[in-house]
Amino acid sequence: MEFKTDFLILGSGIAGLSLAIKASTLGSVAIVTKKEKSESNTNYAQGGIAAVTDQTDSFDEHIQDTLICGGGLCKKDVAEFIVKEAPPRIQELIEWGVNFTKSESPPHLYDLGQEGGHHHRRVLHAKDLTGREIERALHEKVAALKNVQIYENHIGIDLIIQKDAEGHTMNCLGAYVLDINNDKIHTYRAKYTILSTGGAGKVYLITTNPDIATGDGIAMAFRAGAHVANMEFIQFHPTCLFHPEAKAFLISEAVRGEGGILKLQNGETFMEKYHPMKSLAPRDIVAKAIDNELKQTGNEYVLLDITHHDRNFLINRFPNIYNKCLEYGMDMATQPIPIAPAAHYICGGVAVDHNGKTSIDNLFACGEVSCTGLHGANRLASNSLLEAVVYSHRVFEEISRNFNQTKDSDAYIAPWDPSGTTESDDSVVVTNNWDEIRRCMWNYVGIVRSDKRLARASRRIELIRKEIDEYYWNFRVTKDLIELRNITTVAQLIVRSASLRKESRGLHYNIDYPDTLDEFKKDTIIVKE
Ligand code: SIN
Repeated sequence: MEFKTDFLILGSGIAGLSLAIKASTLGSVAIVTKKEKSESNTNYAQGGIAAVTDQTDSFDEHIQDTLICGGGLCKKDVAEFIVKEAPPRIQELIEWGVNFTKSESPPHLYDLGQEGGHHHRRVLHAKDLTGREIERALHEKVAALKNVQIYENHIGIDLIIQKDAEGHTMNCLGAYVLDINNDKIHTYRAKYTILSTGGAGKVYLITTNPDIATGDGIAMAFRAGAHVANMEFIQFHPTCLFHPEAKAFLISEAVRGEGGILKLQNGETFMEKYHPMKSLAPRDIVAKAIDNELKQTGNEYVLLDITHHDRNFLINRFPNIYNKCLEYGMDMATQPIPIAPAAHYICGGVAVDHNGKTSIDNLFACGEVSCTGLHGANRLASNSLLEAVVYSHRVFEEISRNFNQTKDSDAYIAPWDPSGTTESDDSVVVTNNWDEIRRCMWNYVGIVRSDKRLARASRRIELIRKEIDEYYWNFRVTKDLIELRNITTVAQLIVRSASLRKESRGLHYNIDYPDTLDEFKKDTIIVKE
């Protein structure tokens, strides 16, 4: 079946939904989302959204913190306009019904949190469930819009690309999409296709991300011929709850913002050895420091101690974290929380210009799937939700400028052809390869890398890729197979990018090249050959 829409938005996090609200003023919008509509990386964002909203703070300081964190690789002009465009975007979220936690100490209107790398309290939050609150408000808004259709339990398979006579990629015409519940593949023809599929944490064995974070948009864009940038910069969140039954539950950096102190299991502090900001140092430094201490002590976790606050404060400021810890038998008011790092955010992604345009016509990207240049080699905490709303607005403005002049494409699109494929007789191939890639990435392409480890990962993942390719063309596509193919593509992009960067910078640390070198002060761009 072929569906026709003006805007095809893949993903239903903050970037996709805020764009849908605006795009619906121009034309019809189809949102394709893999699970129930609110399942997105945004939904799990605890910390909040960084923005200058306080008289004692300044744009310059926020820009400076962003640039320092980014290890010399942030695009300064991008950081400048994102930080400066924050206030109207925040105001818009508030008008759409997002309830940020108010301050109890006038004259401040909102309670502002602090996180690693910020020299100022500037993180707007909804207690420790900011993402969930933003998703709630945006979904309510979208539900009231007549020309927005949400396709839940649908997953993009591949983008549909028009090529010229020489086979060069020209134009995106939409995407092939699997209706997961009905096992049908449909064609979505769109004037504009927007990737807002979020991140790729599931490429790693241990991650704070939900199961949907399989890098689908990055993999689809790469296969379509788009430029992909800076995939080596994977941010590991330093403080993920360490408990055998907890599925990588995040302990927000805001806990350290409220004075939480990192300690070894014997109670000694250690961050003073690594950075003057100690437990509130930028994330790459804290994650690397913890990794180093774990390797030296042979322990599996360190501790995060916030017991200096009284119980009422903790229940009020961190209700979600407090309750989750209690579920696992830990009382954060009286005991330090056991934590360890986990894969959290991908700073690279589909390369876009200042208006979210990718290198393929009519294909845009915003949110974690994209690489705008804001994060450089290491993202400043809570800058990502801000980047998502600023860029979804810029995508909207860019499209608005030409919308009435852009004609519908009447190019022929071949329907999806399942001929020659059969039902899989050996699904264990999918589960086995899924585990193998994630373990391989965790062991060889984690916080500390080396040439040997990268080469090992590259060899193993290439073997898996060949096996998956063969399997892919012979058997009917399923959601699991699509996701496996995507994490494999993303894993290869990460390994290739990491192997090209023969230095250490920000989140990329290679023991064979421990120094930061001027000759590598540039993006790593990869395009399919
Ligand atoms: C956190 O709450 O620590 C996560 C915030 C972020 O990743 O920006």
